[in-house]
Amino acid sequence: MTDKDTSRNIVLGVAGGIAAYKACHLVRNLKEAGDDVRVVPTESALNFVGAATFEALSGHPVSTSVFEAVDEVQHVNVGQRADAVVIAPATADLIARLAAGRADDLLTATVLVATCPVIVAPAMHTEMWHNPATQDNVATLRRRGITVIEPAHGRLTGKDSGPGRLPEPEQIAEIVRTELAGYRVQHTWQGKKVVISAGGTQEELDPVRYLGNRSSGRQGFALAEWAAQMGSKVTLVAGNTAQLPVPSGAELRHIVSTRELEDAMREESRDADVVIMAAAVSDFRPAQVAESKMKKGQADDALSTLHLVENPDVLKGLVAARERSEIPAECVIVGFAAETGDAQKSALDYAQEKFARKGCDVLMANEVGRGKTFGQKSNEGWILRPGSAPQRVEHGSKQVVAAQILLAVNEMFQV
Ligand code: CTP
Repeated sequence: MTDKDTSRNIVLGVAGGIAAYKACHLVRNLKEAGDDVRVVPTESALNFVGAATFEALSGHPVSTSVFEAVDEVQHVNVGQRADAVVIAPATADLIARLAAGRADDLLTATVLVATCPVIVAPAMHTEMWHNPATQDNVATLRRRGITVIEPAHGRLTGKDSGPGRLPEPEQIAEIVRTELAGYRVQHTWQGKKVVISAGGTQEELDPVRYLGNRSSGRQGFALAEWAAQMGSKVTLVAGNTAQLPVPSGAELRHIVSTRELEDAMREESRDADVVIMAAAVSDFRPAQVAESKMKKGQADDALSTLHLVENPDVLKGLVAARERSEIPAECVIVGFAAETGDAQKSALDYAQEKFARKGCDVLMANEVGRGKTFGQKSNEGWILRPGSAPQRVEHGSKQVVAAQILLAVNEMFQV
């Protein structure tokens, strides 16, 4: 299959805000993944980035008005041909015009015509974002099936800081690709608290060494991203992870060891609606932590023979804490299983045994090793739930996998 067979037509709308420069990176990102991108800026966006830049990056002419290339009926054609319309950045003004159903430039006309997923990434000052007028407009768009991405927290233009920043282009592109894979953001988890552990724990051996694992934290971060986009309050309890951007709207709590992870998870889960243990937890820790760097060839030979003690099973502990009513009874607890098959049993067999052992409500089983899962950007496996056959999760990005896990959790809420 060539790129041409799989290439989708993406319309990238750009409104007039300082974050318009980030749209250039977004064009690049989408094109590098093989998609065709056509940029439709508003007139005011061109005050920030020139048409020539968008034309060179996208390889397509750029127009803003319905009165350009009238013979091609652009205001209808562009929207009809699109597989997705993405607007990044979307200003408060553009969001208001979309909510009012205006069609006074090529971008708003395109949105009115489009029947494909429309994804809006707002960027504005915190006050403008919190203003009831903007919030009402956002709610209107969401009610109509348009995805409005949660803005990131952080530095805005000038010295201000708060929600309103445009998420990073890679984050927006990932959401677009997940929607194109058929998983639309369902903004139905407002008021819910989701606690997710991610990355690997590290067990200190001496001041310079530790025992750890290869987890990158990507699956946990992808879950946090999707849960935050669904409207929930997300706490991400993260161990050692690759340098990943913190998902928009998620709060990061950093831990190092398994015992720190356990304390943080117990505390955060007290008022949680969903708890997900995606972290790769060190099962053992050194019996003793050396005060100074351990040396080779010493009499006790402590470096070549490590004495280890078992760590607590955090997931099992959370299930037990729920039984003792320390965690709300209706909280859905999700575990992961990292498995390799062997001559006796398949990875799925081992995962099913683990599911029974751990007592959680949902288990995402993945086959690990030989370049699979750990440190990779994609994942695959099975979702296990009591009383139903394993649900196969085909090979896909960690965000596509995250969307499927959260859909399974959402079904548990309906039961
Ligand atoms: N887990 C945990 N505490 C541990 C070990 C694992 O909470 N001490 C959680 C993981 O976060 C994951 C699930 O338990 O959600 C399964 O982890 P996994 O490493 O696959 O299994 P283990 O319980 O460690 O069993 P084994 O290593 O024997 O396969």
